[in-house]
Parts: sequence; C-alpha cells; structure tokens
Amino acid sequence: MKNKRSETVLVTGAAGFIGSHLTDTLLKQGFSVIGIDNLSRGTRSHLCEALIHPCFKFIEMDMADVAALRQVLSSTKVETVWHMVANSDIGAGLADPSIDLRDTFLSTFNLLLVMREAGVKNLAFGSTSAVYGVHSHALREDTGPLFPISNYGAMKLASEAAISAAVESFLNRAWIFRFPNVIGPRATHGILFDLLNKLKVNTDYLEVLGDGTQKKPYLHVSELLEAMLFVQAHSSDRLNCFNIGPEDDGATVLAIAKAIIRTASPHTPIRFTGGDKGWAGDVPKFYYSIEKIKQLGWRPHLTSYDAIERAIGELWGRPSACAERAAPQSSD
Ligand SMILES: NC(=O)c1ccc[n+]([C@@H]2O[C@H](COP(=O)([O-])OP(=O)(O)OC[C@H]3O[C@@H](n4cnc5c(N)ncnc54)[C@H](O)[C@@H]3O)[C@@H](O)[C@H]2O)c1
Repeated sequence: MKNKRSETVLVTGAAGFIGSHLTDTLLKQGFSVIGIDNLSRGTRSHLCEALIHPCFKFIEMDMADVAALRQVLSSTKVETVWHMVANSDIGAGLADPSIDLRDTFLSTFNLLLVMREAGVKNLAFGSTSAVYGVHSHALREDTGPLFPISNYGAMKLASEAAISAAVESFLNRAWIFRFPNVIGPRATHGILFDLLNKLKVNTDYLEVLGDGTQKKPYLHVSELLEAMLFVQAHSSDRLNCFNIGPEDDGATVLAIAKAIIRTASPHTPIRFTGGDKGWAGDVPKFYYSIEKIKQLGWRPHLTSYDAIERAIGELWGRPSACAERAAPQSSD
C-alpha cells in the first residue's frame, strides 16, 4: 500500500468548520497537510490539534494573493488540493455580492491558475445544493437546468464549470461534492449556530427566520468526511460529481427550533419572522437523491434528525477538545 506520509495535500479554508475537520482527518490518515486560510471566518483554535502535529503546516494568506498561492504550490510537491474556501456568510454576500465573487469564485479561479502552473493535477471541491436552484423533486446530480437563486450558488456553479474546463485542459482527476447543510462541532454559521447563539444572549424569545416550514437535509460533518474520502478512493471518472446527504427528505426549521429549545432553554417561546423562506436566495425546501453515492458503496448512518440532535449536544455548552485538554483536572 502507498505510504500516505509521502503525499502532501493542500487544504484551503483549513481553519474553517469543514476544513479543520478535514485537516484533522487527513493527518490521522498519514498525509502531510498544508493548510491555508485568511482567518476571516475561521479561527486558529479550530486547528489546535493540527498545529502541534509534525506533518502540518499552516499558512495565513488570502486566496486573492496569487503570488502567495504560487509560492505555496511551487515550493512543495502537492498531490491533491481540497478546496474549501468560500464565503459562508450569507448576510455579507447578500449585502455585497462582490464578496461571493472574490471568496467563492475567484478563489477557485486563482487556485486553478496556479495548480496548472505548478502541475498539481487533483482537485476535490466543496460545492453545494445551492447550485440546483428550486426544484420540486429529489435533486439528482443530473438535475437541470441549473438556475441558482443565490449569488453564492451562482459562484459555486461557476466554480464547478471552471473545474470541468480544467479537467479538459490539465487536471487528471476532480471531485465535485455537493454538500447539503453540514452540522457539527466548530460550526462557524448555519441554523444551529445562529439559534444557539441567539439563546446565549436572550432567552425571552427565539427569533426564527421564515415561517418554520422550510425543510432541508442535514448531514453531520463526520459523515461528510467519511463520504468524501470514500468517493475519492472508489470513483473512477476524471470528473466526479456526487451529492452527499442523508437518506431522508430533511428536517423542518420548526422541528430544529423545538429541538434547540428543548436542550438549551425549555421555556423560551419561538417567534417566526414569517414568509416561506429565511432570506432572499434561500431555497426553502429541497431533498437529495443519493442513489449515485449508494451505488458506489457508501450510505449514511444518521438521519437528518439524528445529526441535528447530535450536533446540538456537541455545540451546546461543551468546550472544544483543545479547551478540554487545557482545563485543570478535578481532584476529588
Ligand atoms: N457548512 C455547510 O453547511 C456547507 C454547505 C454547503 C457547502 N459548503 C461549502 O463547504 C466549504 C467549507 O464551508 P464551511 O462551512 O467550513 O465554512 P467556513 O466559513 O467555516 O470555512 C471557510 C474558510 O475559508 C476561509 N476563507 C474565506 N475566504 C478566504 C480567502 N479569500 N482566502 C483564504 N481563506 C478564506 C475562511 O476564513 C474560513 O475559515 C465552503 O466552500 C462552503 O461553501 C458548506
């Protein structure tokens, strides 16, 4: 078997929610990992375990800095890039779409430019259900036409298109993973993060965006990582595109709000802002077909509800693994 330690991989967005878990997992698998992040939304504390690992190197840099990116890829032989950088702040992207252009699309464009120069030929990309737009049936990888309703989705779809073109011109292999809502420890955004944070500052009422009927699939980050690594190891096409998600048709926002109240603040009433979507560009209801990944041999163990319950427990009041290590031990 090939010794993974001889392989170096690059994780972009390494200090973010998914990128930091991915970094930890790749290190455990024996890869050497270079992580880059501008720390705009991620944090070094997410990398507390990686930063003391001898096979990890962190570089604080912005993907808009092509010269710095060139320096990283020309100084080390990188086998595969895992591209997780994007603008995950929906509010910021709504207020200023150039943030999505820069962080979500141009990060991909710049990366491909430099990968081509450096001869790095394998790319795994974190894409999203937002590329699909609004459909009333299960979303399959060949669902179309693809008309995203958010600028974020549009910039992800443009990134997918640029990767497809790069496969024609220089990439050996590419994996496009279309994530649903991903949840778990170290989340930097998303419904669980938002609602739990609201309850930390105000327990008089819990404001919930929309009317509570929005319904979407939720996947625990541990299953996302398992699925991506499985697909990478078992897929055979040059350009591989897979939905990753639970087998069910999702959980409602009302059910999530109730689960959060149950755990975090049992007597707090819920106040909905109203309307069938949470914000402009929110796809209020969707669900995935995951037949393609099941055919390949991977299936999730958790339902959306299982994943939500687990993630609420992980996010509510539990210190991070690093904080736990640093905390004084009780001596009774
Ligand atoms: N979390 C989800 O539910 C979800 C769903 C679908 C797709 N995705 C995709 O998965 C990937 C990871 O998402 P996440 O939830 O971990 O988000 P995140 O915001 O926690 O991670 C993204 C990281 O990229 C960094 N970053 C942003 N712009 C940068 C730039 N210009 N240069 C360098 N670093 C930059 C941020 O500081 C952050 O640490 C993203 O591409 C996201 O679009 C996430």
